[in-house]
Amino acid sequence: MATSPVFHSDRRIQLGIWGLGRGMNFYQTCAALNFDVVAGCDYNEHMRRGFLEANPGAFATADAEEFLAQDFDAVLLATYCPSHGGDARRCLAAGKHVLSEVTAFFTLAEGVQLVEAVERSGLVYNLAENYPFTPVMRYLKRKWDAGLFGELMYAEFEYVHECRSLCYTYIDGLPVQPGDSVHTWRSWLDFHYYCTHSLGPVMVITGTRPTQVTALVGDQRLAGYLPQGAEGAGGIAPSLIKMSNGGVMRNLMGVTTNDSHVQRLWGTRGAAEVNVGEGLKLRLGGSGNSPKLAVKPAEDELDRLANSTGHGGGDFWVLYYFARQILSGEPAPFDVYAAADVTIPGIQAVRSALAGGQPMAVPDLRDPAQREKYRHDTWAQEPYDTRHGLFPREADRTQTGRFSTTMADLIRYSLLYRQWADWSAVAGDLVDPARLSEMRQALAAELPEVRRSYAAARALIDAYPGSDGARVLREMLEDVGGEKRVLAPGFADELQGK
Ligand SMILES: NC(=O)c1ccc[n+]([C@@H]2O[C@H](COP(=O)([O-])OP(=O)(O)OC[C@H]3O[C@@H](n4cnc5c(N)ncnc54)[C@H](O)[C@@H]3O)[C@@H](O)[C@H]2O)c1
Repeated sequence: MATSPVFHSDRRIQLGIWGLGRGMNFYQTCAALNFDVVAGCDYNEHMRRGFLEANPGAFATADAEEFLAQDFDAVLLATYCPSHGGDARRCLAAGKHVLSEVTAFFTLAEGVQLVEAVERSGLVYNLAENYPFTPVMRYLKRKWDAGLFGELMYAEFEYVHECRSLCYTYIDGLPVQPGDSVHTWRSWLDFHYYCTHSLGPVMVITGTRPTQVTALVGDQRLAGYLPQGAEGAGGIAPSLIKMSNGGVMRNLMGVTTNDSHVQRLWGTRGAAEVNVGEGLKLRLGGSGNSPKLAVKPAEDELDRLANSTGHGGGDFWVLYYFARQILSGEPAPFDVYAAADVTIPGIQAVRSALAGGQPMAVPDLRDPAQREKYRHDTWAQEPYDTRHGLFPREADRTQTGRFSTTMADLIRYSLLYRQWADWSAVAGDLVDPARLSEMRQALAAELPEVRRSYAAARALIDAYPGSDGARVLREMLEDVGGEKRVLAPGFADELQGK
């Protein structure tokens, strides 16, 4: 048996991966961290095939019962986001340690159940919240612990990620099946729920936990998203969170026309910020106009190994902490209590927004007394009917079965048009005009496919004009895709500048 290059232990951990979409990101890192990937489980045949190619000799099944009955030590849980609480409890009941993808659970009641299931089991439970463990965040944590920044006053962290096509495809880009359905949760889940990649780093760096949250509904939504009410995908999701030291953070999630991951921390002695496309800058010296300088965190050998894996090294570190706790008992940063701390503000922010901004408590589930109030609290966003919501039940499925492919194509091609059309409006102001001509060439090269996808979308819209499926297609085709202009006979010549 090979000695691990990371842990001074020959002990191997037999790992099963449940959910082979996101789960596939971890295959390569496992070997160096004492994990042997021995089993995989996913409903999707194409994902099981990919899993077996990457892990020859492993066991693969679509059946969770059969998967959990296999003889292995730990599960990397990457099933549907709202299912993690229940799925984690099934893993614990089967005697497996659990590394759960974010978020940890979907309701407060599930949170209480999960905490108590972990306590009863004596097994290791970690949340795979990875964003606190990039080199910059780890450096800030070290300096924060050393007292360089003082106490947390305020933070602004965000996870603004426009992922419209993921409402209609799997993570590997294939359209969702059956083709007249949409993604099980990405198509409707309110972005407040996905709060951990921005809140998590603030908690870890500053050593605080959230205690209260407040939010307002933003009514404006991007084209091509299904939910239309106050809750749901397609909009912006900012919340204000009170932290346990009395500091406040603004946590920003959602989809907009400007993806960004700006991270800013203000302490009572110093501040730090990471802006889009820039490295880390610190302002040190105790006043608002003290020197502000760029710094470059030094890296050790483990950092370099981590950086060669996904998500800026974060994926490596969550696996590392999980293995370390199983092998040596040393606690990981995201145990089940921290997992609850980082998950609950998302649930409570949706509630606060729907209650006109009323502040909501973030209970500390370490405290058995605080659990009682939430033990039966099953409040959750109403899910969209992802299987039957798009088209009338009597619809011709040979036709509506083309929806997810049509929508995935339409998103791609309508955005090619939109970027060219909008940048053309400021053509004379561009510093680098060559970029506009690249956009024009990309659109011209794809024009036959653009038009084909527009025609397929129009056929579905005309067949079921009042349906939700028609609405999202229409938004992309007309608002984004400029259907009339693109299909006009002279458009190809217009693009060629004739
Ligand atoms: N930390 C990160 O950077 C990061 C990145 C991507 C995704 N994620 C998280 O990972 C999780 C999975 O992400 P994804 O993009 O693969 O999402 P997904 O929801 O598309 O994939 C879940 C997969 O699990 C399978 N599955 C679900 N329940 C199952 C069951 N009971 N039996 C068998 N198979 C089942 C599905 O077939 C699907 O392939 C999500 O919760 C997501 O939030 C985290």
